[in-house]
Amino acid sequence: MIDHIKEHIARVEQFSSSDINEIEAFRIAYLGKKGVLNDFFAAFKSVPNEDKKEFGQVVNQLKNAAQDKVNALKEAIESKAGTKNAYGDLTRPAEPLALGARHPISIVKNQIIDIFSRIGFNVSEGPEIEDDWHNFTALNLPEYHPARDMQDTFFIQTDPDILLRTHTSSVQVRYMESHKPPIRTISPGRVYRNEAISARSHCFFHQVEGLYIDKGVSFADLKQTLQYFTTEMFGKSRIRLRPSYFPFTEPSAEVDVYWGLETETDYKMTKGTGWLEIMGCGMVDPNVLQNCGIDPKEYSGFAFGMGIDRIALLLHQIPDIRMLSENDVRFLSQFKSAL
Ligand code: DAH
Repeated sequence: MIDHIKEHIARVEQFSSSDINEIEAFRIAYLGKKGVLNDFFAAFKSVPNEDKKEFGQVVNQLKNAAQDKVNALKEAIESKAGTKNAYGDLTRPAEPLALGARHPISIVKNQIIDIFSRIGFNVSEGPEIEDDWHNFTALNLPEYHPARDMQDTFFIQTDPDILLRTHTSSVQVRYMESHKPPIRTISPGRVYRNEAISARSHCFFHQVEGLYIDKGVSFADLKQTLQYFTTEMFGKSRIRLRPSYFPFTEPSAEVDVYWGLETETDYKMTKGTGWLEIMGCGMVDPNVLQNCGIDPKEYSGFAFGMGIDRIALLLHQIPDIRMLSENDVRFLSQFKSAL
């Protein structure tokens, strides 16, 4: 029997092929479950004791020879095909990677965050699905206020208590409920309104809310902060505050920045006035402070809110708000920014 095995060893050593199927058939014939080797291993039991040692050695020799042969032939095929190195040709020039561009909304949002973070404002966020309290009631919006109208608000199913927030002012409420003054926070986020979609308005858009609460915060602080912001954001420091009304601030104002009337675009953007409306603001109404657990006798503060989409449209001269949500790469790839 030992001679028989040795014959196999000689045959294995002679075997050669560059055909992967042939090599596989060879592997199965020797190393497979029903292969030659298993037959010899099975025969081991009936080998007389004095021959067992030599028999074992020769069978192992056959096994190693078969295994080595299969490996060597497979390797030869692989290296010929050039697939042996998993990384291919390491000297090949790299694939040119196209750099992506940030979305204009993100660019403007990041600019605003950057500007306010330099004067100590942190960033806070709240849920887009809100309840009546945080979006309306705590903000002093009485039940008959038009902003609560079904026309303007998307309610979730039939529950009038759960809705898609209509402004980021809801985050003010959440922040005041969970933090003690001094508070300096800005809250960027998406908001929803049930409005007809056109070039100028969409049913969802983005706002940044600002809130500053401390002892002795005055309207002068508000004005100073806004002026700092417009200078940093637009390079324009001339602003005017027009009296306005928001239920959550008293007094309230709308902020215009003087854009100028130097070019035709300036005329178009400002409708010939030179002034551009950029946000709403005011001193936080004492009722709102009270609703959020802050004592209005001890603390005061200001708030403001602005639309990110509107600013993005203005700064980048984008003619239609819908372009911001169409995800057209030809449009999006035009925006490159450091922020
Ligand atoms: N929430 C207002 C809106 O959606 C914007 C706003 C105005 C926010 C005045 C404020 C504010 O915090 O003081 O139109």
